[in-house]
Amino acid sequence: MSATDCVSVRLKDAQKALEALRRSGVLANARPARLAEELHIPVLSFEMASEVLEGLSIASNPCSGSFEVYVRKPTKLSEVVPGLTGFVKLGSIVVFNYTKNLGLHTYLQAAEALRSMYSDLTSVFVKLGTTGELRLPELLLIYGDGNTVTKVRENGLEFLVDVKRTYFNVRLSGERARVANMVRDGELVLDMFSGVGPFAITIASRSKAFVFSVDLNPYASYLAAMNVRLNRKRLKGQVSIIRADSIRLPDFVKMRFDRIIMNNPTASLIFADAACRLSGSGSTIHVYTLGSSEGEAVSKVVNSFGASCNVEVVYHRKVLEYSPSKSIYVVDVIRRG
Ligand SMILES: C[S@@+](CC[C@H](N)C(=O)[O-])C[C@H]1O[C@@H](n2cnc3c(N)ncnc32)[C@H](O)[C@@H]1O
Repeated sequence: MSATDCVSVRLKDAQKALEALRRSGVLANARPARLAEELHIPVLSFEMASEVLEGLSIASNPCSGSFEVYVRKPTKLSEVVPGLTGFVKLGSIVVFNYTKNLGLHTYLQAAEALRSMYSDLTSVFVKLGTTGELRLPELLLIYGDGNTVTKVRENGLEFLVDVKRTYFNVRLSGERARVANMVRDGELVLDMFSGVGPFAITIASRSKAFVFSVDLNPYASYLAAMNVRLNRKRLKGQVSIIRADSIRLPDFVKMRFDRIIMNNPTASLIFADAACRLSGSGSTIHVYTLGSSEGEAVSKVVNSFGASCNVEVVYHRKVLEYSPSKSIYVVDVIRRG
């Protein structure tokens, strides 16, 4: 038996929850336990598990308990390497965020532990930072073949991701599902910073929308196009891939979009004027931005848009931690007039 974090779900949702958590690589290597009308599912991270389940509208609560370990393998990295918990698994690749107070030897030890936790592991990298307009990571290979392309499963879809040359955050899966669930058939949608296409493709998988997926990074646009092909049998709507600088879009795109997604938290607000020019009265704009508090994020969005168009804030929440002092917030606004 081993004490571990878990999420509790209602029995009627258990099968769907287990499949989603397994696909996302969040399941711990231990046997779930039934308690009354609930199943307690051991997981590697509450936060990631809740994001995955929230994206599928499955109600869950955090829990902890003792679970029977399937085989003699570590279930939590912190059991093997004290102090180290945070990592992201993208398909067969694991990426650690580098923390200065943990030496490189800690990560090498962790990579060794991960090998016995995941049979499909091909490479482990340490991320030293994220740089430049394209938000690309600086990666150090510490285990494996060093191939940076992998296939990530999310919300019932598959995405080819290059962990070195494109941006992809598995912790946004719930957010992508939330936005996609709001889109109605026939909507004209613009994803201004689409990366390899996860927002655009998730939307087109759930409604007959027309989605324009724009990114400055040509390799991200190439993978987005590959991802549209990869998921074509699951798509109801259409996705058009455009490689462009979104600041220039109003110069050559004369359409007015019903919905715009601005997921470039370090720079979204610079594009507020472009988003105003590409939207019309009643359009919804999902703005992702950095802030030291939710109130500050909302004010920054209102002020940035206010210089070019009238907007009403209809929803906001914290999405992710970004640094010790800053988080990423989503602020949904509707254009008025
Ligand atoms: C934080 S990532 C978001 C990617 C994607 N939306 C996702 O959820 O995975 C920001 C993206 O904005 C792109 N980008 C940065 N500047 C841009 C610009 N001026 N025009 C279009 N895309 C840009 C980057 O290449 C990157 O893919």
